[in-house]
Amino acid sequence: MTPLESNAKQAERSGGSDKTAAGPAARVRRMLIGGEWRDALAGQTITVENPARREPIAQVPRAQAEDVNAAVDAAAKAFPAWARTPPRERGRALLAIANALEARQEELARLIATETGNALRTQSRGEAQWVVDTFRYFGGLSGEIKGITVPFGEVMLSYTRREPIGVVGAIVPWNAPAQLSSLKIAPGICAGNTIVLKAAEDAPLNVLMIAEVCQDHLPPGVVNVLTGYGPECGGPLAAHPKVRKVSFTGSTPVGKAIMRAAAERVAPVSLELGGKSPSIVYNDANEDWVVDGIIASMRFTRQSQSCTAGSRLFLHESIFDSFLEKLAARTSALKVGDPLDEATDIGSIINERQFKKVCDYVREGLNRSGTRIVTGGLPPDEGPLAKGYFALPTIFTADSNEWRLAREEIFGPVLVAIAWRDEADAIRMANDSHYGLAAYVWTRDIGQALRAAHALEAGWVQVNQGGGQALGQSYGGVKESGIGREMSLEGMLDSFTETKCVNVNLAIPRPSQPT
Ligand code: NAI
Ligand code: MG
Repeated sequence: MTPLESNAKQAERSGGSDKTAAGPAARVRRMLIGGEWRDALAGQTITVENPARREPIAQVPRAQAEDVNAAVDAAAKAFPAWARTPPRERGRALLAIANALEARQEELARLIATETGNALRTQSRGEAQWVVDTFRYFGGLSGEIKGITVPFGEVMLSYTRREPIGVVGAIVPWNAPAQLSSLKIAPGICAGNTIVLKAAEDAPLNVLMIAEVCQDHLPPGVVNVLTGYGPECGGPLAAHPKVRKVSFTGSTPVGKAIMRAAAERVAPVSLELGGKSPSIVYNDANEDWVVDGIIASMRFTRQSQSCTAGSRLFLHESIFDSFLEKLAARTSALKVGDPLDEATDIGSIINERQFKKVCDYVREGLNRSGTRIVTGGLPPDEGPLAKGYFALPTIFTADSNEWRLAREEIFGPVLVAIAWRDEADAIRMANDSHYGLAAYVWTRDIGQALRAAHALEAGWVQVNQGGGQALGQSYGGVKESGIGREMSLEGMLDSFTETKCVNVNLAIPRPSQPT
């Protein structure tokens, strides 16, 4: 078998092609280690639930340290040959993966919607598209993993090589599981690394599907995917001595633990962590398109389970009430319901723990003086919405930026609006956070927009728009929102390669002539 020969037989044996993602019975799935589909060595499993219906949909292996060891060994074994594979050949494999995923895009979208609760029309289709685009984008960049030459004069050649790092350990969360997995796998392997990726316990099925497609086009061991819990599978992966680089997306506390583990062996980390991102609306922006932009930036149609959610809304005091009135009207018109229903705008929260956490925040808001609820509130405890973990998009006003709801990452559809008078005050409040991921500025005055954009402590600022990231931008946070950049050519070079410098003396003495 040639390294890039189709591996469809193995994929078939994985029981991987689950064509009925929302199928009636809980299916048993396996994880991908060294080109083989395996159960956990200890034989334990995790039940995956459809959070919109609170129904089990699959069993996946509950991987532990011994499974991590097997996957890392497989990745380490595959590394030398993959690192030596010409970059364009690696790129062609990524392009083939993109095409194969494109053919199954709707299946992937439905699977994402089923296990995450993210609405098919507003979210999951877009996410499946992202996955295809990501493999295609990085596949096309394989020829761009270039070094530089350094001008030290005529008698020295100094050049750099961008070399793969080795085995990459990647850990992804459940909120955009397919998108984030592709954003680690595609640049990681394009640059010549091999990878062991741990899917989130709440949303592993779509990642296994991506793994299945990858395996059809890659040598065994280049991409390995584990399913398991954080401490017992992600922990050993982050701490594994043979894992030379860790790329993590998730919460700030876990990110810190991963950085500590990696410090033991001085392994580089990329961390994309939480956020409490501000939106600053100036008094000239009291318009409908801004209202729509705030809904988009708050990621209400993703239940605001997004690290870049613009969850702190700083409104100029002169437009505070009238803007909120428009925002409440549009927000309450969004339809919450079954993620697979084409009419649904907002799906369900991922699991019971997150659902309860969101409800606790809402309850606190309802009971606090100095606060007014503008729309939303606690979800109904009976009727169709009570069948799943559905939260209502909720907006509170706050008299201060100090309140817990205005400071903590809620990771649910709870927006806090605060009034401001002076620009300096708005920026001070916006920056008064240990997070620094995204920020949004809304005004027709480009001077004040850019003044604010430059003053905001964030890795990513948007002016007059609230959409998601675009492939090709270097994305990541400052402060406790993370370290490192991914999502672009520069991100691939920074996060998934090491620079080696080679200095060559061009003036060695001529060999002495035989006399
Ligand atoms: P989490 O950070 O615990 O989970 C993210 C990933 O890390 C999962 O794959 C998990 O299994 C893994 N993990 C957990 N503990 C680990 C450990 N000790 N070692 C290695 N890997 C570990 O996030 P969780 O519990 O799912 O959500 C809690 C909060 O985290 C959310 O409410 C939200 O505030 C934040 N979060 C932020 C995300 C982001 O994109 N910035 C994504 C998911 C959660
Ligand atoms: Mg956790």
